[in-house]
Amino acid sequence: DSFTELPLRPPLIDFHGVSMVRHFTDNWENIQNFQARPDDIFIASFPKSGSTWMSYILDLLYFGQTDPVRQTSIPIYERVAFLESSYRGFPPGTEQADKLTTTPRIIKTHLPVQFAPKSFWEKNCKVVYLSRNSKDNAVSYFHFARMNKTQPEPGDWNNFLQRFMNGKMVFGSWYDHVTGWWEKKQTQSNIHYMFYEDMIEDLGRELDRLCSFLGLSPSEEEKERVKVGTHFDNMKKNDMVNYTRIPVLDFKVSTFMRKGKVGDWKNHFTVAQNEQFDEDYKIKMKNTTLQFRTVV
Ligand code: A3P
Repeated sequence: DSFTELPLRPPLIDFHGVSMVRHFTDNWENIQNFQARPDDIFIASFPKSGSTWMSYILDLLYFGQTDPVRQTSIPIYERVAFLESSYRGFPPGTEQADKLTTTPRIIKTHLPVQFAPKSFWEKNCKVVYLSRNSKDNAVSYFHFARMNKTQPEPGDWNNFLQRFMNGKMVFGSWYDHVTGWWEKKQTQSNIHYMFYEDMIEDLGRELDRLCSFLGLSPSEEEKERVKVGTHFDNMKKNDMVNYTRIPVLDFKVSTFMRKGKVGDWKNHFTVAQNEQFDEDYKIKMKNTTLQFRTVV
């Protein structure tokens, strides 16, 4: 199958000042010229912030009622296009998006804000930005890089954490990513900025806010269905959303639906790493009003 063509453990490259791998830059022109439609819904996030959770929430909100077959037969990564994906041997994300027959189309991206296609802003389509606190994000990314062979070699945890702080991750610096989209949101009413921690704390409240942004008004019953269906334990068991069908992911090393918690960083950071991280964080985040919670 096409998976045999995939370059594994690719090197990080510097791409216009952002660390990337070629899986996400090879289709660059088509990404930059991508024609968004006014009714498209975009999910934007730094990797490992919960974008699959958000993908499934949106898919259920829009199509859970009307198309039950979809839920049992099409994996989530085929329902939701991944804009910048350009894995060798697979149709690129831009093509995948153009082939989506649903309205709205749900499309996800991990691009930092300066790389977003111009048509996002020209068409004023809705963008849901999902962010997650840096410490849990780093831990989740570490385990993902261990099990996902299309990521660069992760090295050991300490090494990985230093690289995270230096912005040497696929899709670059977490700090630049979350603050870049946050600044954009101050001038763009089509961005809804969300936090993983808020969703863990009170998914009902966050669904209400999300629906109000999207202009949706699901019944209590529908909302309950979304809450149950997208619960971590249920997503972990659901082959259509847990990524178990992708052979480049090594589920013996880690799982895609790994823990789904706030605060797992405490099981990974040493006291010294935590102090170093906090000190560095203060400097990197000193000019932003953006605030995260590392516990709920
Ligand atoms: P952990 O590795 O901390 O468990 P993404 O989908 O953007 O790659 O993010 C993956 C992270 O979101 C993983 O974090 C994964 O377990 C978590 N996640 C996925 N579905 C979730 C859910 N329904 N509830 C809570 N966390 C979820």
